[in-house]
Amino acid sequence: MSRIALYPGSFDPITLGHVDIVQRGLQVFDEVRVAIAVNSRKTPTFADQERQAMIEETFADHPRVSCVTFSGLLVNYCREQKIHTVLRGLRAVSDFEYEFQLASMNRRLTEDVDTVFMMTSEEHFYVSSSLIREIAINGGDASSFVPPPVARRLAKRFG
Ligand code: COA
Repeated sequence: MSRIALYPGSFDPITLGHVDIVQRGLQVFDEVRVAIAVNSRKTPTFADQERQAMIEETFADHPRVSCVTFSGLLVNYCREQKIHTVLRGLRAVSDFEYEFQLASMNRRLTEDVDTVFMMTSEEHFYVSSSLIREIAINGGDASSFVPPPVARRLAKRFG
């Protein structure tokens, strides 16, 4: 049986911190499925299809990585797809409280899904999508924090 981990998030846009978690996940799971949460109440900087394209281009050489979008509850999507493991990254202690709450609530909603946490590498501890957006919007160079498909789009959009 192949071991699949679903890695959910907003990925607006995907950063090297997220890439690091996917790569770590590949050492433990047969497949990592990056799942973009589509939230109709939020207006993302990058449209769903663009976020998906950036992720697919980033992992074009990784056949064990795929990317999907989902809406509604994460646990419902996992159930539909028969996935039992959610992968999340932890950057600092400050992430823990939110992640603990999310994982605990998901467990209350279904016993079928467990969350596995991996620690982001030190060099990406301080990276976040909103900081990347802020740097780019203000004319800074964020290219060392994101994969090339994201850097290209940031330059096109804000450069
Ligand atoms: N490296 C770099 N940055 C990281 C990171 C890593 N390894 N892990 C998280 N981040 C950053 C993101 O860039 C993002 O930064 P930002 O806030 O500056 O934009 C932030 O941490 C959190 O983002 P993300 O990991 O994408 O989580 P999220 O809070 O946006 O989304 C979902 C969490 C999508 C998993 C959650 O909201 C969800 O499951 N939604 C579906 C509905 C649902 O089931 N809700 C739960 C009910 S109990």
